Amino acid sequence: MSDAPSSQRITKRPGDDPLLVVENLKTHFHIDAGVVRAVDGVSFKLDRGKTLGIVGESGSGKTVLSRSVMRLNIAENVETAGSVKYDGVELLGKSNKEMRDYWGVEMAMVFQDPMTSLNPVVKVGRQLTEHVRYHLNTSKKEARLAAIELLRSVKIPEPESRFDVYPHEMSGGMRQRVCIASALACGPKMLFADEPTTALDVTVQHQILNLLQQAQQDRFMTMIMVTHDLGVVAGRTDDIAVMYAGKIVEKAPTRTLFAQMKHPYTQALLQSIPRASNPKHTRLSAISGRPPDLINPPSGCKFSPRCPYAQDKCYEVEPELKADTTPGHEFACHFPVGTPEGDAAFEANMAAGKPQTLAAAGKLAATEDLVTGGAV
Ligand SMILES: Nc1ncnc2c1ncn2[C@@H]1O[C@H](COP(=O)(O)OP(=O)(O)OP(=O)(O)O)[C@@H](O)[C@H]1O
Ligand code: SF4
Ligand SMILES: [Mg+2]
Repeated sequence: MSDAPSSQRITKRPGDDPLLVVENLKTHFHIDAGVVRAVDGVSFKLDRGKTLGIVGESGSGKTVLSRSVMRLNIAENVETAGSVKYDGVELLGKSNKEMRDYWGVEMAMVFQDPMTSLNPVVKVGRQLTEHVRYHLNTSKKEARLAAIELLRSVKIPEPESRFDVYPHEMSGGMRQRVCIASALACGPKMLFADEPTTALDVTVQHQILNLLQQAQQDRFMTMIMVTHDLGVVAGRTDDIAVMYAGKIVEKAPTRTLFAQMKHPYTQALLQSIPRASNPKHTRLSAISGRPPDLINPPSGCKFSPRCPYAQDKCYEVEPELKADTTPGHEFACHFPVGTPEGDAAFEANMAAGKPQTLAAAGKLAATEDLVTGGAV
């Protein structure tokens, strides 16, 4: 499909105001057991045409953050605070009705499970044409042609005949392509991809990620790619934000993050990337310990119970996200990786026989191998 509709709407290029500015965003769920601080003071900016990877373990708040930015979290037990400015317009406080002018047309999302966004009892082509007709107000015939072109653009073979099949008649990879086509249908300026490949096998994962990357470049879209796997965003994003317990704990241009990561949690995530030398693409190692309870999180640094570098100060004082010397690099840690104070903290914990430090020490060789071994 021609990308004219999207490119016509884009009036600004990088260097202008960021398309998205998120400031101190909080999304808390009030449940019987207490308040779940799923997103707890997140700030970032995203320039037009750029791609941001949001990485973190299960439960770190990646999906809630994405849905909060898109205002898909509007429910009675949700308390949201802060600011989400899209193209200069504040979105927080907008109703579902007002957000309909944005969803699909300005911003769209590709979900983890294609069946979440596809209606199982409606043929694929009709789902796409309904979407196109609703937003772009085209005739039935024009919408059909547009839908077939969309299917072709996401490399679905014989799109004319696939138009009339039900989602269950397609493979998982094909279904995800349909979801991507649907998300792209109205030429959004911004695309959220929330773990778009976790349900797919490795070969198909790469194809879908390449497809998303291509679509992003061809259409000059701004993209947020959410994943638990740092390996997925390596080489595919301009910047990466690492989330832990509802906060960004490290943020940097992608190359800087891999070359000079400062946060022990980022280092631990890096150790869990499946390597090319591991053909089964299974995880190398899980991060020791469990993610924190978001209702009663640990005091001080929330990573402290699991951190190989943790010192007394970490259990008492929560570190703030601060700028490093490299432009665009920020991290929140009292004893950063690769610094004299970080090295001293690690060695002191080793000498004291702290289990998380001993466990991490056993894995450090794998990390160094990975960083220099071309997986990044
Ligand atoms: N509607 C809700 N009510 C209460 N808690 C919620 C709700 N939605 C999400 N949460 C909690 O918010 C936290 C963050 O969830 P989120 O889905 O954003 O994690 P995630 O990083 O996307 O994880 P995953 O990798 O498993 O998708 C989790 O502890 C989750 O249980
Ligand atoms: S060293 Fe301290 S502040 Fe840094 S991540 Fe570990 S526990 Fe948190
Ligand atoms: Mg999620």
